[in-house]
Amino acid sequence: MYVVAGTASTSLAERISRELGNVPFGMPFLKRFPDGELYVRIGGQMAGEDVVLVQSTRSDQDLLELLFLEDAVRQSGARRLVVVVPYFGYARQDKVFFPGEPATAQMLAQHIALEADAVVSVDLHSTDTLKAFTKPAYEASGIPAMARLLRQRPVDLLVSPDKGGTDRARRMGQLLDRPWVALEKQRIDSEHVELQLPRELPMELEDKHVVIVDDVISTGGTIVEAARLLAKQRVGAITAACTHGLFLRDAFERIKAVTDEIYSTDTLANPAEKASVAPDIAAIVKRHLSSTSTA
Ligand code: R5P
Repeated sequence: MYVVAGTASTSLAERISRELGNVPFGMPFLKRFPDGELYVRIGGQMAGEDVVLVQSTRSDQDLLELLFLEDAVRQSGARRLVVVVPYFGYARQDKVFFPGEPATAQMLAQHIALEADAVVSVDLHSTDTLKAFTKPAYEASGIPAMARLLRQRPVDLLVSPDKGGTDRARRMGQLLDRPWVALEKQRIDSEHVELQLPRELPMELEDKHVVIVDDVISTGGTIVEAARLLAKQRVGAITAACTHGLFLRDAFERIKAVTDEIYSTDTLANPAEKASVAPDIAAIVKRHLSSTSTA
């Protein structure tokens, strides 16, 4: 077995290779042709091997690199190719909202699945997108990774910034044996939200250590508003925790100013990436390969 690391996911790919039993791990050679076109080349003897290719698709280049690497692995004669897309970009446009638009999540899922035998992603914007991959597709959760990290810290309450994240907060609450609550959220525009506490809370918030759990931190608007709301209740400490830390522009600094700690998983490289989803992804890869093994 081999693990190939796309440039967007080098550290996570190396961790996955360790979790798979220290299997060989390689990074491709990349360059730009004079006209700007992307060139990739992989090393290693992959003929007849199972290959796990890991690449988040945060940027357009990441996406093109992933598609090129998939083909390079296939051209090398790999036996089975499991493509891991820890952060799947363009996932929010998962349907045609206005006439004339593409459904980017579905379309990209089909293209990624084309040369893959299976696909693994983490906390997709919508779990329904799994169906678009046209090959066996699996979704890992960032919650167990975050819970492994938070278990070593004092936590009183898990807070989801919106009703849509209720299951995440509940699952984290179950893993940490702590209560959870979901805020009422109203989006004003792409960077601003209004949040309210629910009428009933499981405890008095004063002096408590509260963890705000979200799937994505993008502009930071949601977490900053949630932290301000909780600070008004005189909580003792606030931790912001997410699976995918995009931290656009000055989001990290703005969140840092209103929280005590910021944690994300390693689906994207960022200064808060302290919880690894490698064990969860490796477990899915192992399960898939053993369930489809004919040897
Ligand atoms: C929304 O439904 C998501 O769960 C996140 O809360 C949202 O994408 C975060 O975005 P931002 O950081 O821009 O507020």
